[in-house]
Amino acid sequence: MINLAQYAKLAGTYDITTGEMKGAALVRRHLSDLRGSFVDAQAFESALRQSDPLIYSVSSIEPGKGQGDLHYGLGVLMPGKVGAEYYLTKGHLHAWREAAEVYIGLRGTGCILLEEPSTGQSQIVPLGKGSIVYVPGHTAHRSINTGLEPLVYIGVYPASAGHDYGSIAKQNFRKVLIERDGHPLLLDRTEVAGKV
Ligand SMILES: [Fe+2]
Repeated sequence: MINLAQYAKLAGTYDITTGEMKGAALVRRHLSDLRGSFVDAQAFESALRQSDPLIYSVSSIEPGKGQGDLHYGLGVLMPGKVGAEYYLTKGHLHAWREAAEVYIGLRGTGCILLEEPSTGQSQIVPLGKGSIVYVPGHTAHRSINTGLEPLVYIGVYPASAGHDYGSIAKQNFRKVLIERDGHPLLLDRTEVAGKV
């Protein structure tokens, strides 16, 4: 039997400044957790020698595991760059490839990088305060902060979606978003590697 009082407790408990949700499992990713994610390995190692800052955190709520259940997470991605490349999340595919996701932007300025792995088709979609992004199934997705304040968003996805980080870790996204002349510029990874 469903205990509605239990679900009611989930309401209104997130904080877009701290990225915390009461009762949520919190995962923190520091720079050292993102080795291999940025295109400029030299800039990465150089930055890491200085410090190991928090890059992003995700607080996840997983109310149930049943068919039809939804999970959601509050993401907070800090502003900054490694070399010319904006701070980003590791990115993932869903283990259940058909699973889609909705991102609701709450604060800040950035985007989601989408990639269809079999063809390499890529797309940047703005994500920030006031925007919503639909991530279809079979699509790798990564958040990128192009602004000067934390990028905060909520992602809602099927309980059975699961996260597959391995495929991205192996070959990374084909596109890289860098800052050039003060503006974001999307380039091929192969074009950028060793040149930024
Ligand atoms: Fe996802």
